Amino acid sequence: MTEGSLYGERITLGEPPLKAGEILYSLRDVSVEYGTRAGPVAAVDHVSLDIRKGEILGLVGESGCGKSTLGKAMLRMISRPGRITTGELWFDGVDLVTLSERRMREIRGARLGMVFQDPMTSLNPLSRIVDHLTETIMTHEPSVSEAAARDRAAQLIGRLGLREERIDDYPHQFSGGMRQRIMIALALALQADLVIADEPTTALDVIVEAQFLDLLRELRDEFDLTIVLITHNIGVVAEVADRVAVMYAGRMAELASVNELFLDTKHPYGQGLLRAVPNIELDGTELYQMAGAPPNLLHTPSGCAFHPRCPAVMPICSQHQPEFLQREGDHYTACWLYQDHPVKPGVHDA
Ligand SMILES: Nc1ncnc2c1ncn2[C@@H]1O[C@H](COP(=O)(O)OP(=O)(O)O)[C@@H](O)[C@H]1O
Ligand SMILES: [Mg+2]
Repeated sequence: MTEGSLYGERITLGEPPLKAGEILYSLRDVSVEYGTRAGPVAAVDHVSLDIRKGEILGLVGESGCGKSTLGKAMLRMISRPGRITTGELWFDGVDLVTLSERRMREIRGARLGMVFQDPMTSLNPLSRIVDHLTETIMTHEPSVSEAAARDRAAQLIGRLGLREERIDDYPHQFSGGMRQRIMIALALALQADLVIADEPTTALDVIVEAQFLDLLRELRDEFDLTIVLITHNIGVVAEVADRVAVMYAGRMAELASVNELFLDTKHPYGQGLLRAVPNIELDGTELYQMAGAPPNLLHTPSGCAFHPRCPAVMPICSQHQPEFLQREGDHYTACWLYQDHPVKPGVHDA
């Protein structure tokens, strides 16, 4: 890391309970590789990111850029052939990378919730919703009686807009949107601090999606949740997120508040993503299609990985990788347009 790179420094995490805006989870220089027969796939490549208490952070980028891998890494749920190869995952004063699997399971169960695109894969089809919820509550708080846990489960289900008597139904009896709500109910039953939601609305129709996004925002306010919302849909992020992190080829391209990102996008990749959104006003211009395809992460392009597709490419871009640096205020980007070059000693080559 060069001087001036905020993300080169170790930050100090606050003592819980944290106040809104304090750093709840901090990724430092995290890399994940998948070993494949063709060679290592650099799915997450030296990513650093701070997640703030009470925020909804949108994580966006085209399919295959490493969003799900990053989300799983945060929960330390990377399975073979994947492996966390560098970095630290700071949560609640410890680096999760250093924990035993048993401790990690406890933290995952109690503090970090998750919602995936297809909740059927994480709900036991043979257990009724009430069993899922009461078991979660009683494991988390052994002093709670079964009757009290059941009451609480019914209340949560009601809060999430499902009829309370449906608590005795099995997962397959619910629609996709309802199952997403049940996953959120499970995270709330745990009183999780952080929920990572990976493409939670991708399988839903637009109306159910809009309702679910409204609900996320309400729950964040009501339960003091922090949410990482992973999506390839920048429109979803515009709707609910406070800040947006844009990933490209396993790396951070840009990070800013939603307003900053939409009004003053720095990275040409982010600019391309925004111009390609159909429901953003276009001043009469045609909908833009970004040139080229996302790279194969078996062979990430040299220098800035976006350079083969970039409309503003310069000679330096294919030679050296730009650092992820603070531009102004809370706005970070990794782009040579905003950094001094030729390269100073210390900036690592691609
Ligand atoms: N189990 C796996 N084995 C090998 N490669 C994988 C595996 N899972 C993901 N990848 C690769 O890692 C990269 C990032 O994938 P992923 O995190 O799923 O991206 P996203 O969620 O942004 O679509 C892709 O190149 C993908 O092909
Ligand atoms: Mg994904």
